[in-house]
Amino acid sequence: MKRVGVIGDPVEHSLSPHMHNAAFGELGIDAFYELWPTPLPGLGDRVASLRLPDVLGANVTVPHKQAVMPFLDRVTETAQRIGAVNTVIPSPEGLIGDNTDAHGFQRSIEETFGPVQIDSAVVLGAGGASRAAIVALRMMGVENIDIANRTDARAAALAQEFAAEMIPWSEVVAESFPDAELLINATSLGWHDEMPVLMDDLKRLPHRAIVVDLTYRETPLLRAAADCGRRGLDGLGMLVHQGARAFELWTGMQAPVGIMQESVRAEQARRG
Ligand code: ATR
Repeated sequence: MKRVGVIGDPVEHSLSPHMHNAAFGELGIDAFYELWPTPLPGLGDRVASLRLPDVLGANVTVPHKQAVMPFLDRVTETAQRIGAVNTVIPSPEGLIGDNTDAHGFQRSIEETFGPVQIDSAVVLGAGGASRAAIVALRMMGVENIDIANRTDARAAALAQEFAAEMIPWSEVVAESFPDAELLINATSLGWHDEMPVLMDDLKRLPHRAIVVDLTYRETPLLRAAADCGRRGLDGLGMLVHQGARAFELWTGMQAPVGIMQESVRAEQARRG
C-alpha cells in the first residue's frame, strides 16, 4: 500500500484525509492518506521520509509552507510566486514542491460561475491566503487588483510585488467597491462570525459582482452578499480543487472531484 499525508502542526483538523481517501477508494487505488503531525525540529527528517518508495506524495500546511522549501530539490515557479509549498511530489529528479491553491481558486470560480471575464478585483487581507488569491487572479488575466489590509504596510508590500494597487483599509469601500467585479475576503475574519466590511458596504459593489470568502463555509459576509443580491462563493470548492490538483500530480489520474466534494461536505456536517 502507498502512503500520502499532510505535514503540519497541528493537522488533526484537516479535511484532506477524508477527500483523498474517498478518491482512492473510488478509483481503487491502493493508497492511504495519513496525518503526519510534525513539530519544526522534525521537519527535515519528515521531508526526508518522503523519499521512501512507498510514499506517493504529501501536503504541507501551517506552519511549514515556507520552512519546507530548503529540504526540497525543486520548487515550482507557482509555489515561488505564492511563497509557499502546499504539495510535494516525489519524482525521478527528487522532491518537487508545488502550490495548488491558485489553481484551486481559479477552478472553483470557473466551476461555479462558468467562464467569467473579470477586469477588476479587490482583495481584503495580505497574508498567505491573499498571496494565493492574487496569483490566481493574475493567472485568470485580471487586470486591476486592489489590495487593502488592516495593516496598510503589508498590503503595500504585496501590491508592489504583484504590480497591484494598495488601497488604505479605511478607503477601500468608497475607492474600490464601485468598480469591483470580484471581492475576495482573505482576512481571517469570518471563521468567528465577524464581517470584514458592513452589510451596507456590499451595496456599493456592482450588481454583477461576485463575493468570495476563503473560509470553508457560509459566513456572515456571504449571507449579507446574498441578502444584497450579489453572488457568493465560499472556500470549500477551492479546498477541493487544490486537493484534486495535488491528487492528479501524485497519481497521474483524473481526480473524482464530485466524490471529494461530497466527502468533505459529509465530514463538515458530521463535525457540525
Ligand atoms: P493567512 O495565511 O490565512 O492569510 P495570516 O497571514 O495570519 O493568515 O493573515 C490574516 C489576515 O487577516 C491578515 O491580512 C490580517 O491583517 P493584518 O495584516 O493587519 O494582521 C487579517 N486580519 C486578522 N484579524 C483582523 C481584523 N480583526 N480586522 C481586519 N483584518 C484582520
